[in-house]
Amino acid sequence: MREIVLLIGGGGREHAIARSLADSEVDLYACAGNRNPGIAALSSGFETLDTADTDAVVAYAESIDATIAVVGPEGPLAAGLVDALEAAGIYAFGPKQAAARIETDKAFQRRFMAENGIPGCPDFETFDDMEAACEFVDDYDGDLAIKPAGLTGGKGVKVIGDQVTADEGKAYIRDSDYDRIVLEERLVGEEFTVQAFVANGSVRTAPAVQDHKRAYEGDEGPNTGGMGSYSAPGTDLPFMDDGDYDRAVEIIDATVEALEDYKGILYGQFMLTADGPKVVEFNARFGDPEAMNTLPVLETDFRDVLIAARNGEALPDLSFTEEATVCKYAVPEGYPTDPEAGARVEIDAESAGEALLYYASVDERDDGIYTTTSRSFAVVGRANSIGAAESIAEDALAVAGEEGLQVRHDIGTDELVQRRIDHMAELRDA
Ligand code: AMP
Ligand code: GLY
Repeated sequence: MREIVLLIGGGGREHAIARSLADSEVDLYACAGNRNPGIAALSSGFETLDTADTDAVVAYAESIDATIAVVGPEGPLAAGLVDALEAAGIYAFGPKQAAARIETDKAFQRRFMAENGIPGCPDFETFDDMEAACEFVDDYDGDLAIKPAGLTGGKGVKVIGDQVTADEGKAYIRDSDYDRIVLEERLVGEEFTVQAFVANGSVRTAPAVQDHKRAYEGDEGPNTGGMGSYSAPGTDLPFMDDGDYDRAVEIIDATVEALEDYKGILYGQFMLTADGPKVVEFNARFGDPEAMNTLPVLETDFRDVLIAARNGEALPDLSFTEEATVCKYAVPEGYPTDPEAGARVEIDAESAGEALLYYASVDERDDGIYTTTSRSFAVVGRANSIGAAESIAEDALAVAGEEGLQVRHDIGTDELVQRRIDHMAELRDA
């Protein structure tokens, strides 16, 4: 039987999912709030709808007789889309609303780690009284990360001693109208991501990836959803030691075991500290951009993973090509604080050369492709070294055109990767 797969979401991550499924024997349909031209071109049908409107998505899934749904972003997971699809008899690869709290509620996430003795949890306290939180900042010996408990698209966290002073941190706590926040020990080190495919008790992890959260080159500026990312041949990144990746996988394994019946992608964001990997956060989905590093090097057919997951079977072992990847995002000028939406972008997909081009939150209209307030498109280079993959991505940016857009050209460069290595060596020697 040919599977009819409905993909939910219209960003770069979902374009990467669409491309990996388009290579398989499936009939692909998609729905998203924006018409992503890359996904639309790969799909037999594309419906523009609000993906957090579970009734609308279920109605579309039923109209195409979907046999499997794949949920890309966190918003629909938080809205209970998986529960709604399954109530309608459609298997969805993604966690139910309750399990997705591991991402959607950071206070729950930390308590869950503490209660289940999951290693790698920083010291933390949760607050719903903001004055009490400010007092905690005054009394705490050391720097803290301030995290709104709910979803903020990666943009809500402020780290004292890094982005803000203690006074600025307190002003942020008082002036934002968050109901609940987490204050936790500031972790110092290098960040990396490990994504796991999870279902029926199987946990299959992908190679580590490093994302770049800060908006500007040299890791300056506000946090974003992620400006680009790289991975190396094999599972490790150049600043990691033997055993660091395995520690991260152990943390993911322990988390899946404690979550019971989790299915979908579990994304672990780690800080590699002098004491090993600590958990920055978990996400209940692929990373964006990290999906664009991982899926292009996945040799196993993603369709086979989905079918095994649905059929209650163990997931197949995954194999990945021994290639490095570098992903660079082009985002609207002013992103993330004051993004210029509605600009028309000229993207010449044909001239991306060896690179892969992924459309993100752009909207295809009758007369062209327009930016939204979020990231616009990404290019990914694949090669046998990070440096070679970086050159491929840069060449592709030149031809795709980046007028009216901003890019972090430093991602994946030898210089930046060396800084990560030196930083880690310095911390380990201290
Ligand atoms: P999150 O939304 O939890 O991914 O946080 C966004 C970014 O804030 C992370 O990628 C880190 O760079 C930073 N961050 C979050 N928690 C901490 C922490 N405990 N210590 C240092 N940095 C953090
Ligand atoms: N790359 C960060 C995220 O997907 O949340």
